[in-house]
Amino acid sequence: MCGIVGYIGKNNALPKLIKGLKRLEYRGYDSAGIAYFKNKEIILKKSVGRIANLEEKINLQDESFIGIGHTRWATHGKVVEENSHPHQVGNITLVHNGIIENYLPLKKELQEKGYSFKSETDTEVACAYLDYLLEKNKKMPFTEILKQAANTFIGSFAFVILVKGIDNQLFVLKRESPLVIGIGNKEFYVASDFQAYLEETKEYFILEDNDICQIENNALHLYREGKEIPYKTNILEDNISSPSLNNNKHYMLKEIKEQSVLISKWNKIYLEKGKELPDITKYKRIDIIACGTAYHAGLIGKYLIEKNTDFEVNVYVASEYRYQKVHLNKESLVIAISQSGETADTLSCVKLAKKNNAKTLGIINVYNSSIARICDEVIYTNAGIEVSVASTKAYTSQIYILSLLAQEFSQQKIDKNTYTTLPQKVEKLIEKDYTKIGRQLITKKDVFFLGRRIDYISMLEGSLKLKEITYIHSEAFPAGELKHGPISLIEEKTPVISLITDKTTALKTISNIKEVKARGAYVILIIKEGIVPTLDKTIYDEIITLPPSDDYTMPIISIIPLQLIAYYTALLKGVDIDKPRNLAKSVTVE
Ligand code: M6R
Repeated sequence: MCGIVGYIGKNNALPKLIKGLKRLEYRGYDSAGIAYFKNKEIILKKSVGRIANLEEKINLQDESFIGIGHTRWATHGKVVEENSHPHQVGNITLVHNGIIENYLPLKKELQEKGYSFKSETDTEVACAYLDYLLEKNKKMPFTEILKQAANTFIGSFAFVILVKGIDNQLFVLKRESPLVIGIGNKEFYVASDFQAYLEETKEYFILEDNDICQIENNALHLYREGKEIPYKTNILEDNISSPSLNNNKHYMLKEIKEQSVLISKWNKIYLEKGKELPDITKYKRIDIIACGTAYHAGLIGKYLIEKNTDFEVNVYVASEYRYQKVHLNKESLVIAISQSGETADTLSCVKLAKKNNAKTLGIINVYNSSIARICDEVIYTNAGIEVSVASTKAYTSQIYILSLLAQEFSQQKIDKNTYTTLPQKVEKLIEKDYTKIGRQLITKKDVFFLGRRIDYISMLEGSLKLKEITYIHSEAFPAGELKHGPISLIEEKTPVISLITDKTTALKTISNIKEVKARGAYVILIIKEGIVPTLDKTIYDEIITLPPSDDYTMPIISIIPLQLIAYYTALLKGVDIDKPRNLAKSVTVE
């Protein structure tokens, strides 16, 4: 979603703001803008599209020591300059991440008081409301005004604010949307996450809901529940550094390739050093909640836990779970899976679980993220910073953890050898050439993914990867479900990708493949080596053979060709792979 930054200190704010925005561009890239003080006036620059477009409008020689910036993922109103941030009304200029849900009644109230609006956004309304409160209470400290506004605003927000007339201070207010403050040498950095300023400082603190900050050049005042309190900082580990492409064309490719090395790293942590995982066997009910790719990992987790036990695990899409009737009590465990640890729907489910006395366990990639902070226990997935919007290595890291949890749950002896040989198997699949398949797919309107049982889950993920980065419509079906409707979509040369790693249903899936082949489909078969005694070569047009492995590790192997098929198809289409249209890496609104 939107990324916001702010800087106050002894250095020129402009390059700092642009750098921070570039680091946060993964959060939203519809439009961008900055505002800064110059000779007591606030200068505003905005541009539609990427930060690079904004940069062209800015004179980096312009000196300012205090400023704010924003990279937008549109929620209210089209992608046009008027809707982009910073917004300015009267004496207030601000950037916002989140949604002010009651902006329409507020807008009406403000219009009646004489305010007019240039944009369609909720943010401009919030800006006008702060200006109105300031006009009404000229002698009141601005932090008090923010407190009043926080009582009125409904929804989620992180604001960084400049106030005309107070040209040596930066103000901050936050609820639900994440915000961190980095502490430099006589300078402060504000950002939606610490990735923005990793190179500038490793010392930071995370704001809590309803926190208000007044930041001066060399002092920060934190107000919580109406009182000024001291702030406690954390230090990030030294080995966390800004990501780089390392000669890869895209972060997605780099992150796909990293998977084999990461598996070795996880093997070291869990199998060699024996890091313990939390005991999840003591609960009467387990609900897994997540979104998107993390939800697919949750489905794999359910499959693997249930495989060798009589225990039933429930998996829910977080945006549904948060509004449904839950069956939780103190004997329940809610597992939240999230790469970013900031996904608004997943976060709200954890809060719901806590309210219902359930224990919460996060399987999270980003250290100290909002979900990680509120869960009772956390397993960090150690996948490193994932930049590409399309999640790859975070997914395999989630499956890796879930495979271990599942084996511990069913008291299976973990076959270390299978895990040790996994990196080479993954590596070999990464080295294969997927461009021929990509060429088959680029001109197509639809692609269908077929599989049964665990393979169907992997296909859900394969299909999501393809559609999100290539914009080709794709759907995954359980292979046996085809003849109940979807088979009517198969025409001459319709691509059908089929995955077979599940021995119990292999022959059944082959029969389903024959059905689509008979109707002219172009079949790409991904099949585990030796799973069927003889394979009829006429049922496929392309084949990818997967090395054998056990059921726990197979979903880590079988997803690799699917990730790469999506990547190479997008590459041949020439689209922006790391920043697909309309998407954002961290989904911090409902
Ligand atoms: O950060 P999270 O894991 O909570 O994010 C969940 C989804 O938004 C995410 O997996 C999304 O589906 C990705 N774009 C998939 O590649």
